Amino acid sequence: MPPANWTPDSWRSKPASQQPKYEDPAELDHVLAHLSRLPPLVTSWEVVKLRERLATAQAGQAWVLQGGDCAESFSDCEAEAIASKLKLLLQMSLVLIFGSRQPVIRIGRIAGQYAKPRSSDTETKNNLTLPSYRGDLINHSEFTPEARRNDPQQLLRGYERAALTLNFIRALSEGGFADLHHPENWKLTFVSQRTEHQRYRDLCSSIGHALEFFDAILSQPVPDLQRVDFYTSHEALHLNYEHALTRKSVRDGLWYNMGTHLPWIGERTRSLDQAHIELLRGIENPIGVKVGPTATPEQVIELVRILNPENQPGRITLIHRIGSAKVDQLLPSLVEGVLKSRLNVLWICDPMHGNTVSAQTGHKTRRFDDVLAELRSAFAVHRSVGSRLGGVHLELTGENVTECVGGASGLSESDLHTAYNTTCDPRLNYEQSLEIAFAIADEIRRP
Ligand code: PEP
Ligand code: CO
Repeated sequence: MPPANWTPDSWRSKPASQQPKYEDPAELDHVLAHLSRLPPLVTSWEVVKLRERLATAQAGQAWVLQGGDCAESFSDCEAEAIASKLKLLLQMSLVLIFGSRQPVIRIGRIAGQYAKPRSSDTETKNNLTLPSYRGDLINHSEFTPEARRNDPQQLLRGYERAALTLNFIRALSEGGFADLHHPENWKLTFVSQRTEHQRYRDLCSSIGHALEFFDAILSQPVPDLQRVDFYTSHEALHLNYEHALTRKSVRDGLWYNMGTHLPWIGERTRSLDQAHIELLRGIENPIGVKVGPTATPEQVIELVRILNPENQPGRITLIHRIGSAKVDQLLPSLVEGVLKSRLNVLWICDPMHGNTVSAQTGHKTRRFDDVLAELRSAFAVHRSVGSRLGGVHLELTGENVTECVGGASGLSESDLHTAYNTTCDPRLNYEQSLEIAFAIADEIRRP
């Protein structure tokens, strides 16, 4: 049963922040009507399966790896960019499984991560003021009046890109490519012989030997290792878009967001009495909520109660993103508050969004050491209060970008300009991501 006083439209009577304004409401209505007739992108079975798997992570029996671009762009909806991201997440999950001896739940920030919150509705350059770029789902990043016009047609283009991306991911994860017997399929073309990659290759060869052993015992390839589960997630920001993909399941009569497996509520839109919470509280999906440095234990507890009145395990993933400088000070009371209230939540750490800084060169960047430091502190805080960190949320890409500084390859601020490709926040590149995966595996194994 949906919760009391909830309908798919009840969010409309609440204040909604971060919503684009459109010049032609009739055009928007027309697009939304079209969107709501198009087929779902995910099924209720998959959504329920993910919720159940997240409940196992909460119980300490699995680890969550959630990652992808800050903002996916429509122009990156290409075979190589999608496959590289999948390869990187598969490689990282292998490192984590091997290191932690636990299953890993893989969730991409992918196939729908097209809308971004902005601090201001407008941007001014050389005396020209235009609407801010809010992600490809809404407008274009170029600074011209045409590009910055909020265009309802982008909602349809976004849905289509999400469908194309998901179609390719599903095909890749179902067989051949994802077969653990052949991790060489996940090799990225540009990879050097640096330490992290060598460490990964050694790990693959150990896994290869173990599999040969079991294949020989079974007289056939170990069956369940020929495909992988892969789930999608994005920030449920654009309410009209998310509403158009909120559908009633014929199977159980319940409401699901069928545009993604795991929608999350961002740091800027988690106010208790607002529209984002209202729309998501009535759906069956597992829900992520970002929790930043201004959150109080009372707010978080109230938020979890509103979104999960039945205290169902697997329903709520709290994604803390506090910053390496403040995590030791602010995280303990949040985790303790939730623990004392006996609320079932899965905690995962986003060590990216509290650690964004400006480089001397003017680039928005993140220091690898800050990312790692926040993660390590998060492990320690959870351990010290008797909770458990159950996963990580990263901004990363399988491409060879230069957006975050540091890591084993020693990327410096003066390297940032060489491949700074993000349309929003800086992402970890392949080597930095793999290095983080090894560090996490070491932490999980620590008693
Ligand atoms: C994001 O995940 O890209 C983001 C905007 O995060 P937050 O809501 O935590 O700031
Ligand atoms: Co971001």
